[in-house]
Amino acid sequence: MIKQAIIPLAGLGTRLLPLTSVIPKELLPINGKPGIEYILDECIKSGITEIIFIISKKKESIKKYFYNDAFYKKLIKKKNDKRIKQDYKKIKKYKKMIKFVYQNLPRGTGDAILKCEKLIKSDFFLMLMPDDLIIKNNCSRSMIALHKKYKSSIIASKKVSKNNVSRWGILDVKKINGRNFIIQDVIEKPKTKKAPSRYAVIGRYILPKKIFKILKKQKPGRNGEIHITDSIKTLILSQNKFIGHIFRGKYLDCGSMSGYINSTLEISKL
Ligand code: G1P
Repeated sequence: MIKQAIIPLAGLGTRLLPLTSVIPKELLPINGKPGIEYILDECIKSGITEIIFIISKKKESIKKYFYNDAFYKKLIKKKNDKRIKQDYKKIKKYKKMIKFVYQNLPRGTGDAILKCEKLIKSDFFLMLMPDDLIIKNNCSRSMIALHKKYKSSIIASKKVSKNNVSRWGILDVKKINGRNFIIQDVIEKPKTKKAPSRYAVIGRYILPKKIFKILKKQKPGRNGEIHITDSIKTLILSQNKFIGHIFRGKYLDCGSMSGYINSTLEISKL
């Protein structure tokens, strides 16, 4: 069973500057609550019981949101406000499920994931990218169900427009069966001409523990960073089964300013 999830939160959020020079992008409120809470809600509703947050010294306020200092704790307890009481209860519940690890240098998602090696207990774990919100359907839950059936790794996917492929990891696709397909290869942010399909990697992955071994040897790729995509590619090319899952629900990209603004609009309509 998949019970552990990793969420890399050490990214600098440069696309949302100057806001992100003082507030981590994952704490920016979307319709009154931090973006990261939507990701946590999805995880926990899908049956995850332990979440590993990868943060950095620059993003300690993420930890602080869950570990309020004595001053605020007292204030919150004094408040006789239903909404505040409910929100605080939820934060306290989530806090017990979160472990924190640190990635202080921006060396890429692969490097971040490697920091969790010692904490992962089972053969597979879930990974969620905090920029990618999926509403109206629990994508993690569908992926965990699919993993239960096929015992393989799973990557969430969505068809994107041709002129947008270079923003994403792009999958080489075989045998589409309804919403699922076999992944033959993956290329991180290819040029339009080199893209093997229009199926993009969206930030939900079920990955095998053995990826840590590959990550340890992974050479830096694009922009000198260690990319999780490159290690996934190695696994796929050495015959490890990866299934692409075209998720139901609506995708919201919170990592850019226009996407962030739009996510507030969309979520307020729910
Ligand atoms: C990362 C992955 C990319 C994937 C994307 C999904 O890119 O490297 O393969 O398509 O997440 O959001 P980033 O958004 O960090 O540039």
